[in-house]
Amino acid sequence: MKLVFATNNQHKLQEIKQMLNGSFELLCLNDIGCEDDISENQATLEGNAAEKSFFIYNKYGLNCFADDTGLEIEALNGEPGVYSARYAGEERSAGNNMDLVLAKLDKINNRKARFRTVVSLVIDGNETQFEGIVDGQILEEKRGETGFGYDPIFKPDESDRSFAEMPMDEKNKISHRGRAIQKLIEYLIRHKGK
Ligand code: IMP
Repeated sequence: MKLVFATNNQHKLQEIKQMLNGSFELLCLNDIGCEDDISENQATLEGNAAEKSFFIYNKYGLNCFADDTGLEIEALNGEPGVYSARYAGEERSAGNNMDLVLAKLDKINNRKARFRTVVSLVIDGNETQFEGIVDGQILEEKRGETGFGYDPIFKPDESDRSFAEMPMDEKNKISHRGRAIQKLIEYLIRHKGK
């Protein structure tokens, strides 16, 4: 089965290709010649994920899935949440976003946070959503070099290491996106040929 993943984020693509292990042919936006800047203007992760997957399905007629992720920090009332990509400004700098989080949490002891991913799958025009959550803590400073986004300042409760200190396969096993994609894969396998 051919499936479009509505992203050109190479980190996400590599993570998901590793999990799919060849069971589906995965195409990214470049592969289908899509150069549109797909908007993410909804107020929720659910809305943004659906906006992206339906955009591709409606324009190209291809089965597709899209994801949207937010870092939800308890002491900041769930911020940055749906604004995670552009928390420190429209230039979408991961470094500036992390610096802003660390500055806002300065002197705050409650470091509880979670990553939440919503995946929207559209097959033949019908949508199904999958959610993945990982609970953890915001570190006092950046640690590690791998991954992307907020990985250097997020330590999942299951580990002593930040996401940026883990190899990709270890992050995938416990991460928000890994968990949502695992549910997606199980669904696709159950519905194969139906
Ligand atoms: P997106 O809309 O799903 O790309 O996610 C929004 C923002 O959340 C990204 O720009 C990243 O800053 C952050 N993010 C998403 N997934 C991850 C992750 O796995 N690790 C760290 N940050 C992430």
